[in-house]
Amino acid sequence: MAKPVLIANWKNYPSSFSEAKNLLGQLSRDRKFYKKLSLFIAPPLPYLESVALKSKGFARLAIQDTTNLSGGTYTGVVTPDILKSFGVGLVILGHSEQRALGETNEAVSQKVITALRSGFTPLVCVGELSRDQEGRHFEFLREQLKSSLAGLNKKTQAAKLAIAYEPVWAIGKSAIEAIGPSDLSESTIFIKKVLSDMFGRSTADRIPILYGGSVEPANAKTLFSKTGVKGYLVGHASLSAKNFKAIAIALTSK
Ligand code: PGA
Repeated sequence: MAKPVLIANWKNYPSSFSEAKNLLGQLSRDRKFYKKLSLFIAPPLPYLESVALKSKGFARLAIQDTTNLSGGTYTGVVTPDILKSFGVGLVILGHSEQRALGETNEAVSQKVITALRSGFTPLVCVGELSRDQEGRHFEFLREQLKSSLAGLNKKTQAAKLAIAYEPVWAIGKSAIEAIGPSDLSESTIFIKKVLSDMFGRSTADRIPILYGGSVEPANAKTLFSKTGVKGYLVGHASLSAKNFKAIAIALTSK
């Protein structure tokens, strides 16, 4: 069985390089334990080299966004070839905080294709802004998936994707305000169905669905053991070595 996936999305934190090194030092004390997981760290870009060196052997590098520009000269842009040379393996795309800055589904779909061409695993984030009794969030999710994954070849490209279901209303809150297991199961099944309609059942079965949105030690075990998610994309709780380890323990003791 594949290892559970755990991704630390550090966003624009820690606020200083010395704090980042400190956090890495604490994480690396548990390096042996973290090998039980498929662990990625997505730091702010200036910390990339340090993360690469200090997490060797127990975590892989991820990035929080990428450009779809390649093969030209662009002041101010970090192109995928540079990131690749650091050993980056996964890229978070379509995060709601990027979408809130104006990123469209179409832009996400172009970045997915660029990321695949660059050899990265695209982790595509989707999630409704709010949930209602009429189930309109399902229509929203279907449209977001269809448009953000438009133009992909079913077998060779779609099978390399991963999806992070991150309901926007649950991000950056606390465990009690996050989604509950029955709603998460329902959304996971729905996403799987849409992927299956788009790419066929056997390809959809190969696409792991992760959850993100206020995963904390208090809800990590329940959300993992009672739903079909394959792991987590963790924001604020990944900035505390203690909380992050507690989440990792929840994933390894299903
Ligand atoms: P959170 O962030 O864990 O702080 O809610 C998750 C994310 O935005 O990826």
